[in-house]
Amino acid sequence: EKDGYDYFMLKEIAEQPKAVADTLLGRIDAQGALHLDEVRIPAAVLREVTKVVVVACGTAYHAGMIAKYAIEHWTRIPCETELASEFRYRDPILDQRTLVIAISQSGETMDTLMALRHAREQGAKVLAICNTNGSTIPRESDAVLYTHAGPEVAVASTKAFLTQLVACYLVALYLGQVRGTKWGDEINSVVGELAHIGTEVDTVLGTMEPVRELARSLADKDTVLFLGRHVGFPVALEGALKLKELAYMHAEGFAAGELKHGPIALIEPDLPVVVVVPSPRGRSVLHDKIVSNIQEIRARGARTIVVAEEGDEAVVPYADHLIRVPATPTLLQPLVATVPLQVFACELATARGNEVDQPRNLAKSVTVE
Ligand code: M6R
Repeated sequence: EKDGYDYFMLKEIAEQPKAVADTLLGRIDAQGALHLDEVRIPAAVLREVTKVVVVACGTAYHAGMIAKYAIEHWTRIPCETELASEFRYRDPILDQRTLVIAISQSGETMDTLMALRHAREQGAKVLAICNTNGSTIPRESDAVLYTHAGPEVAVASTKAFLTQLVACYLVALYLGQVRGTKWGDEINSVVGELAHIGTEVDTVLGTMEPVRELARSLADKDTVLFLGRHVGFPVALEGALKLKELAYMHAEGFAAGELKHGPIALIEPDLPVVVVVPSPRGRSVLHDKIVSNIQEIRARGARTIVVAEEGDEAVVPYADHLIRVPATPTLLQPLVATVPLQVFACELATARGNEVDQPRNLAKSVTVE
């Protein structure tokens, strides 16, 4: 059932263009309006929401971090994203006008389940974003948006993550449409871009050989750092998590702006540092700042591995290795920027002789708190 791939992870990485298309299926009409009928929470209730809280663990938590940027930008509703395992222990402030979004591939993660139970006890409405039909988390939620990624067998989450992102964007855009915000035009154009994002993911997959080669050349390293800003920050965290769980390497993700507040002390000659660069269009201030970061770390001898959009020439002089991704709207960039980091981790794990689909000490679904 690996369809000729050596590992389920490779198969699932390759399935991502179809998976994201399946998440979108039937949810955008020809006029660009979103139809999330499964979100049985009435529009009238969604219009009254005063706060959104996203709870999740691991990779799903990284999707939730990205959801925060999208929700706050497109809906102007304050949104916080919290690790499900921390959530109920801090006595969070919740009421009937709070929308809690619980993200889980398996639908069985105990930490996430306990967080959503706590939220419902406080009267909050819970929307699950889940990949597994009929699992516990959707059963215990007020509504569910299934990601339709198909079964994910590899312990390391890949296609589930991309489809969780798409589902989060759909929810954010839907909330924006239902409530009406000043971003109406932008929402319409992003919906249009989302509709063919599978093609962009496919383009990235077609250019991965140099990434695999690079990964193999780093097999004897101890540490890899990942930097990003804005939605690229959770992408950096996700790249680091993949590397930890698959390659058993020390990997850390940082918000690039934090570098000067401590982590820059870690930079030493030949240390591989992956930098996820935001688009030079749109949030160009951030782009310029991250280019300075790349210069700074390179001046200290780091080996820079730069993930940047097609046509971004400013990064070229400072990139020891350049990984190109198609240009997308800023908030959608994680859908293309994460893919090379998945391939990178998978190839490093293989090069180090690790079991790719079943990393040591890990289980696919974590049903204990
Ligand atoms: O099934 P879930 O999405 O609730 O699982 C959450 C995490 O356990 C999961 O994403 C984990 O971090 C993955 N192994 C990461 O690749």
